[in-house]
Amino acid sequence: MANEYPPVHYHEYLGLDRILNAQSPKSHEYGNPAHDEMLFIIVHQVYELWFKQLLHEANSVLRIFAAERVQEKEMGLVVHRLDRMSEILKLLIDQIRILETMTPLDFLEFRDMLFPASGFQSFQFRQFEVRLGLKRDNRLQFNSKPYTSALTPDQARAIDLLEKQPNLFDCLDRWLERTPFLNVAGFDFWQSYKKSVMAMFVRDKNYVTQHPSLGEEDKRRNLEIMTKSEEAFQSLFDEQTFEKARTQGQWRLSFKSVHAALFIQIYRDQPVLQLPFRLLTALIDLDELMTNWRYRHALMAKRMLGTKIGTGGSSGYDYLKASTELHRLFSDLNQLTTFFISRSKLPELPEDVERELGFYYSTKGS
Ligand code: HEM
Repeated sequence: MANEYPPVHYHEYLGLDRILNAQSPKSHEYGNPAHDEMLFIIVHQVYELWFKQLLHEANSVLRIFAAERVQEKEMGLVVHRLDRMSEILKLLIDQIRILETMTPLDFLEFRDMLFPASGFQSFQFRQFEVRLGLKRDNRLQFNSKPYTSALTPDQARAIDLLEKQPNLFDCLDRWLERTPFLNVAGFDFWQSYKKSVMAMFVRDKNYVTQHPSLGEEDKRRNLEIMTKSEEAFQSLFDEQTFEKARTQGQWRLSFKSVHAALFIQIYRDQPVLQLPFRLLTALIDLDELMTNWRYRHALMAKRMLGTKIGTGGSSGYDYLKASTELHRLFSDLNQLTTFFISRSKLPELPEDVERELGFYYSTKGS
C-alpha cells in the first residue's frame, strides 16, 4: 500500500543542520581554543532542549488542570505527564556529572570570555518556574532589580504576562478547595481526627522525656520542635490562626486546601481518592526533584568557582543554595505527614461517606 504522506528525511526532520551547527566556542573565536568549551556548550544546549520539553508538558497539564471541572480520565493524563516531568528532571540531575568531568582549571580557560552570560538569562527556566507557581514575591532577592532584568525586554514582558496565566500551584489550590466529601452532614471527622493526633503528640512527648539516651538539652530541643508541630496542627482548626501562620510563610495552600490534602493522603486507600493521592505524590516528587536539581547545581557551582561570584553577578554558591529551600512550592504537602496517624487509629468513616468514596456497580436492570 502506498504511503499517503511524502517521504521524510531523518536529517531534515530533526533539523540537524541547525542543531549541529549551533556550537560556536568563544575560545576558538579568540584564537585560544579550550577543549572543554564544546562540552560546556552542548550540556547547556541539551538542558535547554529538555526545558522545552518540560514546558511542553507543563503547558498541557495546565490546559487540563485550569478547567473548572477536571474529568477523572483527564486527571490520569495529568498525573502521567507530571510523572514524565519527574523522569526528565532525574536525567537533568544526573547530567551534571558529565559537566563535572570538566575541572575548575579547564573551566577557567574560557570562563572570562563569557561575562555577563549566565543561567539568570535562561528564559525557558524562568518560564518553567512561573508555570510551576513560583511567585515574584517569594523569590530570593539578590539585587534590588526584578528577577526578569537579566532577560531581554521582550522576554521580560512575556514573563510578566505569563505570571498572570494559570500555574500549577494555584490550580492545585483551587482543585483541592473543590474536593467534596469534607463537609458531609453529621460527619464530625475533624474533631475525632484532632483527638487521635493530640493523643499521638502526648505519646511522642512522653517518649522523648523518658528516653534513656537523650541528654537534657536534646530533650528540650525535641520538645520545642514537637510544640511547634502541635501549634501548626492546632492552626488547622482555627481559620484565623491558620491565616496568621500563612502570612508568616508557614503554609502556602489555603485553609480548605490543606484539609483536603490531608484527607486525601490519609484516606488514600478509598478507591475515589487513589488518583488524587497519585496527583499529590507526583507533585511532591516534582518539587523534590526541582530542589535536588537546584542543590546539585549549587554544589557544582561551588566546585567550579569556590567563593567567586557568578557571571550573572550573584554571590554564586550562597545565592544558589539559599534558593533551594526558598523556591520550594509544594512543601505544605510534605509538612502534612507530621500529622499522619497509623491506619488503625484513623476515625472510622460513616457508611454513607464510605459509599461515596467507593466505586459502586449497580446490577439494577441487568
Ligand atoms: C560550570 C558549570 C556551571 C556553573 C559554574 C554555574 C554557575 C551558576 C551561578 C553562579 C549562577 C547564579 C547566577 C550568576 O551569578 O551567574 C547560576 C545560575 C543558573 N544556572 Fe548555572 N552554572 C553552571 C552550569 C549550568 C548548567 C549546565 C545549567 C543548565 C541550563 C545552568 C543553569 C542555570 C540556571 C537556570 C540558573 C538560574 C538559577 C536561579 O536563579 O535559581 N547552569 N549558575
